[in-house]
Amino acid sequence: MSTAVPFPNVQPPGYTWLENEPLFDPERHLQLEAPEEIIMLSDLGYGEEQIADKATPVACSSPFRLLSEEGAEVMLETARRLRPFATPAGERIERVVRGGTYRSRWLRDLALSSDVTAHLATIYGIDIAPHAMPLHLAHLNYEPSSLANSIDKWHHDTLPLDFVMAVTDPALVSGGRFEYFLGTKDEAAELAARGETPPEDRRVAPDFDGPGYAIALHGNMVVHRAGELTEMCERISMVNGYVALDTSLNTQSRSRDLLAVDPPEVLYAEWAKYSAWRSAGRLQRLVDSLEFTSDKDAVIAELQSAIADVQETIDDMTQGEQPIHHYE
Ligand SMILES: [Fe+2]
Repeated sequence: MSTAVPFPNVQPPGYTWLENEPLFDPERHLQLEAPEEIIMLSDLGYGEEQIADKATPVACSSPFRLLSEEGAEVMLETARRLRPFATPAGERIERVVRGGTYRSRWLRDLALSSDVTAHLATIYGIDIAPHAMPLHLAHLNYEPSSLANSIDKWHHDTLPLDFVMAVTDPALVSGGRFEYFLGTKDEAAELAARGETPPEDRRVAPDFDGPGYAIALHGNMVVHRAGELTEMCERISMVNGYVALDTSLNTQSRSRDLLAVDPPEVLYAEWAKYSAWRSAGRLQRLVDSLEFTSDKDAVIAELQSAIADVQETIDDMTQGEQPIHHYE
């Protein structure tokens, strides 16, 4: 199985496992089906140069079945059991649970499932691994406490790749649709600068046929949100993060935003390991392939690029908490 950073075999302080969980069984809990449609970054208006160093040229897929009926039932039950741990994610989302894979073994095993990872890799057309930072695994969004608040504001993700899955039955939820913008991040920023959000005719709200259906998302490149509910009801979605295994690609991460969201005793170590993995991969490439040269500047540039992720992490951690980014 593809791994970036192995899932820790100890829990962070204060985290305990849920009791009496079913064992994750891919035979019984998964029902992986291929999406009918794949949308490319070029369809959103991104140019070749913007696509070249990104994880994949794929933007997103149409909804596809990921969990079986039984799997979807366990998923909902697990999300309900984790609800007491919900907290705000900065000013963007009112109620989320992160780090659920340190509390639920079933959720951890789903998030790390090699079957699911292989399925997503086929959709993206690249080698991927479950995200190196477990805080980005099986992130749960819950409905806000008031109809006036969107579930999640227009944004792009702080990580490269993920799937977004309906946990509650979409047929039982009024409003709260997942939507993405048929445009680029630059266009979303221009709209936001004018006080606008993506126009209706450039939004896509895919139909999820039931709980356990998901879309694959190049979350760092596709501007998206979950809209307002029109009636108060239970509405839960799950987002599972992935990284491209090729560390020469752009990191497509904005981990500094997590300083306002995640507990320090979990975040710092996860973040450091992720950056260390990225830089280790780049340094190894230098070890393997750097050729004799008198071009000192080129060698310095290679070394700087190899340690860029570690350097950025040090800078971000030193600077401390910043407001988290969104387009509203
Ligand atoms: Fe998102």
